[in-house]
Amino acid sequence: MSNNYSLLNIGEIVAGEGSIEQIKDIVADYGAENVVIITDQGVWNSGLVEKPKAVLQEAGINVHVINDTPPEPTVDQVNAIFAAAKEFECQMIIGIGGGSSMDTAKIVSLLLTNNVNLRDLVKGKAQIKRRGVPTLMIPTTAGTGAEATPNAIVLVPEEELKVGIVSPKMVSDCVILDPALTVNLPKAITANTGMDALCHAIECYISKKANPLSDTFALKAVTLISRSIRTAYNDGHNLGAREDMLLGAMFGGISIATSSTTAVHALSYPLGGKYHIPHGLSNAILLPDVMKFNLDVCEEKFKDIAVAMGLDVAGCTTKEAAEKMIDNLYSMIEDLHVTCDLQAKGINEAALDDMIEAAAKVTRLLDNNPKVVTKEDMRAIYKKLL
Ligand SMILES: NC(=O)c1ccc[n+]([C@@H]2O[C@H](COP(=O)([O-])OP(=O)(O)OC[C@H]3O[C@@H](n4cnc5c(N)ncnc54)[C@H](O)[C@@H]3O)[C@@H](O)[C@H]2O)c1
Ligand SMILES: [Zn+2]
Repeated sequence: MSNNYSLLNIGEIVAGEGSIEQIKDIVADYGAENVVIITDQGVWNSGLVEKPKAVLQEAGINVHVINDTPPEPTVDQVNAIFAAAKEFECQMIIGIGGGSSMDTAKIVSLLLTNNVNLRDLVKGKAQIKRRGVPTLMIPTTAGTGAEATPNAIVLVPEEELKVGIVSPKMVSDCVILDPALTVNLPKAITANTGMDALCHAIECYISKKANPLSDTFALKAVTLISRSIRTAYNDGHNLGAREDMLLGAMFGGISIATSSTTAVHALSYPLGGKYHIPHGLSNAILLPDVMKFNLDVCEEKFKDIAVAMGLDVAGCTTKEAAEKMIDNLYSMIEDLHVTCDLQAKGINEAALDDMIEAAAKVTRLLDNNPKVVTKEDMRAIYKKLL
């Protein structure tokens, strides 16, 4: 555990079924007359933006919607959205969607108040000095927890890698968690994004940066996600399960804000950066094997996670309880039908060298893994997935 730890919190969180109605009060609190909503085509076509847009317009607020955020956007794509948002002088940026829309909204907010170039930011050559335009995040997947993290991820195509921009100034001002917005989330996205949230919680709990703040949120996230992910998948309209998933995902994000993800996310980056496998899916398929790799140094912590998952570990040794936790990860993946044919995506043994080189560069996360991950270890983990 690190000696010092801190947590930057979201200013205001409003949660529960129907809480989307409160959007007008939140925006009014900021005195915003013009707002930009950033979302994507899938969320737009699902009709999820109509209600908040109408509620705001009825309250006399000018709303400009940008609805073409691409999935897992590149630097240029985020820059194009920034250029569009700049046209409309706004006092608040609202991200409605999954991590792709929320990360884009977070970056646009910062670019509006800091005279920096996104490409320089990505290369670590520029600094963010000011907070951005106030932000309101409304997640519609229950996965990334981007509404709570100081991070935003963009794809740098020329390097075939995803890069995380990290700044404490990026933590959102307000969040609305309305489970009704997630009831029509397709099954596969429910599974993949939900497993991503579980990765955040588990990785943050075993991370070298884990601390009492992250532990509290991480274990609660594990409990909420474990008890509801199968229900959310099988019965998407179950609002209780959807609410657990949204809370669990945000708690995972809060854990990231004070701890850090580790080897699962590091090994996942090349799968997204080069092969465009969705973030949640690439993490989900890696999670059980990476935890199996970590087992010998994490027995106690895995036992805690098993307890938080509600597994029956009475009479088990610490190691047996830890193994039960890993078994549960494998069975979750199976129950949620999470699979990815890597060969069909063009990943074969010959591709592994480049993937390993790319993953080894993600030292920001790898350094926090409780066990050193050598390149040979990476090869063994990737090979199991082929
Ligand atoms: N900032 C962070 O801390 C952080 C953490 C993890 C991941 N990320 C990033 O977030 C991105 C991934 O985000 P994601 O996994 O949430 O997926 P996403 O935002 O790319 O959305 C996935 C798909 O789900 C659809 N969708 C979303 N909500 C829906 C709903 N309610 N009903 C129907 N369809 C819906 C979208 O239209 C999209 O097609 C990646 O770029 C990843 O790197 C960021
Ligand atoms: Zn993630």
